[in-house]
Amino acid sequence: MKRKVILDVDTGSDDAIAILSALAAPELDVVAICTVAGNKPIEMTTENTLRVLDLFGADVPVYRGCKEPLAKGLQPSRWECSPRKTLIVDGKEVQIHEDYLPLPESRRQTEPMSAIDFYLKIVPAFAEPVTLIAVGPLTNLGVALTVDSEAFCSNLEEIFIMGGGVRMTNYSPSAEFNIWYDPEAAQKVADCPVPSVWVPLDATHEAYVTSANVARLREGTRPWCAFAADTIDQRIFIHDALQPLAEPHAGSVHDAVAVCAAIHPDVLSDCQERNLSIGIGGAAEGQTIIDPRIYPLEPNCRFALGGNRERFSQWLIDTLLA
Ligand code: BDR
Ligand code: CA
Repeated sequence: MKRKVILDVDTGSDDAIAILSALAAPELDVVAICTVAGNKPIEMTTENTLRVLDLFGADVPVYRGCKEPLAKGLQPSRWECSPRKTLIVDGKEVQIHEDYLPLPESRRQTEPMSAIDFYLKIVPAFAEPVTLIAVGPLTNLGVALTVDSEAFCSNLEEIFIMGGGVRMTNYSPSAEFNIWYDPEAAQKVADCPVPSVWVPLDATHEAYVTSANVARLREGTRPWCAFAADTIDQRIFIHDALQPLAEPHAGSVHDAVAVCAAIHPDVLSDCQERNLSIGIGGAAEGQTIIDPRIYPLEPNCRFALGGNRERFSQWLIDTLLA
């Protein structure tokens, strides 16, 4: 039987690949997609999500979510966010995530209900438990937990989260972007009773794809293959220049690793049952802190400290080609 999943996304280049791979994976049934602000403002992440659904030709309801973080936006000193930064690489202006994905404007509509109402009113009434794969800031989850944690948790089987990093960070010296963007929400998710699997940068920087993998994808005949190949190539170009991985011509597609983990747990390695807490304020803002002590706090999650490159790249390309 297919595993029913909800995606929570801030689309985004790697979110787009995560959505396409989840829709294409025969093991998953994507029952809904919720959007959140993060890589871009909510209008853009929502429109980008609709464009990806058009490209795939999937009829999945989209619920628009929160436009700002749970609490952080209330304190301007904590809130100097620049996810729309343009980078200069080899003299060329690039963004890790374009404002709008290079796909036709969508004529689809989002659902009239908000993502929060969807989590609190629709999900609890599903006939069977559903898995949530959250690959953007955790604001929608944090707000739903604040409003009614019992309803939110009542019918969720497991939550996969792309976020955090222990040996690796990207947005600040201590933090990965999704968690930095909304640390209060992330703490609520870490503390909620639904079992969670965290897929941090430690995993996604090891489970990467190469240009050779992309060349195979480019041969594909599915309508999304060329877009996916261009999107991943752009990520590889930026990784090579700014954040080289273990081999040249390689790049991470972070969010798709969380999708893969919901199907193939062995894409994650060194997955530890640990207590996770989130740094709030100062230099530790958004840090994912794993309790290393001999007598640690009670575990509240499974946190992957590594990833399996072969497993991920083969799964991603095969899934997008099929
Ligand atoms: C995460 O941040 C976003 O920019 C990506 O979409 C991914 O979810 C990686 O740090
Ligand atoms: Ca994302």
